[in-house]
Amino acid sequence: MSRYRRTSLGSGSGYVPGEQPPDGTHWIKLNTNESPLPPSPSVGPAVDEAVVELHRYPHPQGEPLRSALARHHGVSPESVILGNGADQVLESCFRAFADPGDAVVLTRPTYSLLSLLARLGGARVATVPLDDGGSLPEAFATTPGVMRLLCNPNSPTGSWVLPSDVAGALAGVDSVIVIDEAYCDFAPESCVPLLADHPNWLVVRTFAKSYGLAGLRVGYALGHPDLIADVAAVIEIYPVDRLALAAAGAALADQAHHARIVEMVVSERGRLIAALREAGWDVIPSQANFVLGRPPGGDAAGVATELRQQRILVRHFPDGDHRDRLRITIGTPEQNRALLAAIGIGT
Ligand SMILES: Cc1ncc(COP(=O)(O)O)c(C=O)c1O
Repeated sequence: MSRYRRTSLGSGSGYVPGEQPPDGTHWIKLNTNESPLPPSPSVGPAVDEAVVELHRYPHPQGEPLRSALARHHGVSPESVILGNGADQVLESCFRAFADPGDAVVLTRPTYSLLSLLARLGGARVATVPLDDGGSLPEAFATTPGVMRLLCNPNSPTGSWVLPSDVAGALAGVDSVIVIDEAYCDFAPESCVPLLADHPNWLVVRTFAKSYGLAGLRVGYALGHPDLIADVAAVIEIYPVDRLALAAAGAALADQAHHARIVEMVVSERGRLIAALREAGWDVIPSQANFVLGRPPGGDAAGVATELRQQRILVRHFPDGDHRDRLRITIGTPEQNRALLAAIGIGT
């Protein structure tokens, strides 16, 4: 850290992502909630085709992908904004809706990036604890704040709140509500159909998980055109490049491939949870593409280290409420078998 750093940042070093080993080295990577399968085979040719136009800037609002997403979700193009990953859309929400000193309401636990984004923008964080079942406490609605953020399914737990229960818990709340649905395709239902009745809600989605495009960085938000205009007022210019627009458009058009990713994850999730529980792990029910489990004895750090020695990466969060648990991304059937064998569970 240099002596020029802005004082309000403190000495922290930003978001700490999961380990990303070099490409081509052989690891079983179950630590950053990526898709177990690569993206649709139509993505490569679409990118090749877009290369010849790279001397031109992309469309500022991300057309034609924006309109394709609008059709996909049954909303108007003005109700969609694209960003360089869901993370950039989330960051733009903080810039659009929270002034320095304003309070934003987060759950505990939640996606760790959110409190960092609040700090970067000088917002204060009010935290409302969730139980492991994940149901929304009344305080999430009543705690004063200009914006409330809910990850549904949540990270790192995988817990999920029924959209009608979200609407019930937040009825009459007069602040922006951001619902991060990064993992929603692996859950039974989305909050998107409820947007029409909630002009203060934004739903954030990503191509990183259920479309196998984590390496591409495309996310988006859906919501009332007035809220979308607020986010558009602060987001980077040309946030999504031409190659990413082409690739995400091709992935969106291949719904059969998307369904294959979702089906594999959901069926393997059930198998993995059952095997871990059978072996004495305490696993929180998950509607996401990962599970959060406590190994017998609770030495999560030790288990993560042993797995790493066998070139299997899982995520351990040493600080916080879940240090006795591991977050394990659902892999392919072979990867999950290898994981279970490595921790001494036969299948
Ligand atoms: C809850 C949640 N939201 C958003 C993201 C990031 O999405 P993207 O890769 O599109 O920035 C993640 C990534 O792991 C996440 O866990």
